[in-house]
Amino acid sequence: MPEPTLVPLADVDTARVSNLLSRAGEKRGGDVVDEAELARLSGRRSRKGWTAAVAEQEGSVVGYAAVVERDDAVGGDVVSLDGADVLPVLLAWQREQAGDRELITWLRFSTEDELAAAEAAGFTIRRRLGVVGRGLATVDVADPPDDLRIRAVTNEDLDGVLAVLLDAYDGTDDGGWTRDELERRRAYPWYRDRDLLVASTPDGRIAGIHWTKQRTTHRGETYNLAIAPWAQGKGLGRALLTAGMAHLADIGLDEIILWVDRSNHRALKLYDSVGFETLWDDVALT
Ligand SMILES: CC(C)(COP(=O)(O)OP(=O)(O)OC[C@H]1O[C@@H](n2cnc3c(N)ncnc32)[C@H](O)[C@@H]1OP(=O)(O)O)[C@@H](O)C(=O)NCCC(=O)NCCS
Repeated sequence: MPEPTLVPLADVDTARVSNLLSRAGEKRGGDVVDEAELARLSGRRSRKGWTAAVAEQEGSVVGYAAVVERDDAVGGDVVSLDGADVLPVLLAWQREQAGDRELITWLRFSTEDELAAAEAAGFTIRRRLGVVGRGLATVDVADPPDDLRIRAVTNEDLDGVLAVLLDAYDGTDDGGWTRDELERRRAYPWYRDRDLLVASTPDGRIAGIHWTKQRTTHRGETYNLAIAPWAQGKGLGRALLTAGMAHLADIGLDEIILWVDRSNHRALKLYDSVGFETLWDDVALT
């Protein structure tokens, strides 16, 4: 096989890129780039500070890489259709784009071969997200503690939801929530209030959330599970997790998946105890 060549996205028919991403997705069993990247590709989201390229080999598109400027670093997505061979070329292009800024690029459905190729190209793992899931045929719903009640979100709850997200993720890679960010995500086409469960005290204080999402006609997701620090360790995480699972089962879905940082032992222990199993890992390389 000849070395793959890198072609700027502007010089490629975008239909060929969509085709590559859907073929790679079919092979691996899910979306190979995230929602924000798909939105930039389709022009639904600003392309400011964004550059993308494809790898071509013998006239076929075999890989995709994109970088986007962030405040403190350069973010990226990298996709190779057939495993490890094309990856070093795509990663080298991303590093070149980043120049002397830090590059953090996401490789989804990572395989051991790909991680070895990335390591050989001088990259290390910055973050590793486990994707875990289970079936929804039977769900044992745990009761919430104290006098907390689990229900769908209302507009009056949004400040409380934001406070939970800010406090629960304070100091982590998932921190820094803002009202704008919350509203941006509530504007996604899949968003529905009834899928965002909150646990509230009798006087309306929000103690935790389980934001669920319908991904496909059969698969749901825990988009975000977060308990306010003052309410943690009392069984609310388990109660909200299982209430959300029951909700997804009620709307006709038969499985749930979620992304969890491999360093988040607390959450991993909870998911393990509720019967979730590892499906694959998404890895951020730097
Ligand atoms: C992870 C999180 C959702 C758990 O919620 P919680 O209300 O504190 O957890 P619960 O009290 O319901 O405990 C449920 C299980 O979690 C695990 N767990 C909870 N606290 C733990 C701790 N301090 N250490 C280890 N495991 C712990 C245990 O398995 C526990 O079950 P057990 O009590 O029967 O042993 C909560 O800590 C949180 O919001 N963390 C910050 C945000 C986050 O990481 N969200 C998950 C992203 S994927």
